[in-house]
Amino acid sequence: MDIKSINIEAYIESLFAKNGPEESELNYLFAMMNEVKAEDIEYFRSLVSSLFNRHTLIGFAHTKPFGYSGDFFIIEKIYQFYLSQDEKIRKWDMFFQLTPAVLAVRNRKTLAIGIFEELNNEALGLQKEVLILGSGPVTETFEFLGKNPESSLVFEMLDMDKRAIAYAKNKNKKYLDRMTFLNRNVIRYTPEKKYDLIWSAGLFDYFKGKHFVFLLKKYYEYLNEGGEMIIGNFNIENPSRRSMEILCDWFLYHRSVDELKKFALQAGIEESKIDVLQEPLGINLFLRVRK
Ligand SMILES: C[S@@+](CC[C@H](N)C(=O)[O-])C[C@H]1O[C@@H](n2cnc3c(N)ncnc32)[C@H](O)[C@@H]1O
Repeated sequence: MDIKSINIEAYIESLFAKNGPEESELNYLFAMMNEVKAEDIEYFRSLVSSLFNRHTLIGFAHTKPFGYSGDFFIIEKIYQFYLSQDEKIRKWDMFFQLTPAVLAVRNRKTLAIGIFEELNNEALGLQKEVLILGSGPVTETFEFLGKNPESSLVFEMLDMDKRAIAYAKNKNKKYLDRMTFLNRNVIRYTPEKKYDLIWSAGLFDYFKGKHFVFLLKKYYEYLNEGGEMIIGNFNIENPSRRSMEILCDWFLYHRSVDELKKFALQAGIEESKIDVLQEPLGINLFLRVRK
């Protein structure tokens, strides 16, 4: 598609005239955004700038009221499939919620719950230690414990943002007997014990390769024998990457299966202990390393 060959201004105007795109138009919009050249991003943004306020999901992501991309609040809105009640906004929110990258974020919550259930089944009633790096709203654990109230997993939650910690503590107030919250930076934190599972989603794709390898190497040391560390990262195959970058100003390091495996090898982990999982859309990959 040549973006110059369509009257993009008229098209975007027509979308606003009907309060946002229909679901049937979304693939067309993603394809259109994939064609936007770097030098045209600001022009494209100027056409949709009325969305850039905290009342729309796109605008919330774009304006970053918490000061950074991927805060606990927008992630929780994704998990709850929030849509504005305002008719002028609702279709735009639906557009955001149906973005493939956003579907993949919801899928990763389901994948996390499955991983916790696997560990819980293997535990045979013995206590298992879980560390979550960049824990955000802690919705996956909340849902896991809702489904498995007798679980023998205990959790340590690490997040740098104290507002995320406050939100997650309040959400999980029923489960505080098995959760410890630490308001710390994963780069500086030194654990005082070892874990059976270290889980991290939505964090390592903000880190450069050398930080990724540094953190992997560091936290691998804190796994019990037989334990595993699972790290989520967006795949280079993400059909909505440009849309997230242009509309939401949300930039991530996208990585391939091979790149993730290479990081694990660079961290000194044996090849036979390395694996990569994915959620059903293949947009979120998960490097899984065993001890
Ligand atoms: C995109 S959210 C993901 C939340 C959660 N893991 C999930 O998948 O729902 C990333 C979280 O990591 C936290 N975070 C970012 N950098 C961090 C760092 N260096 N140390 C600890 N937490 C960090 C943010 O505050 C945010 O709550």
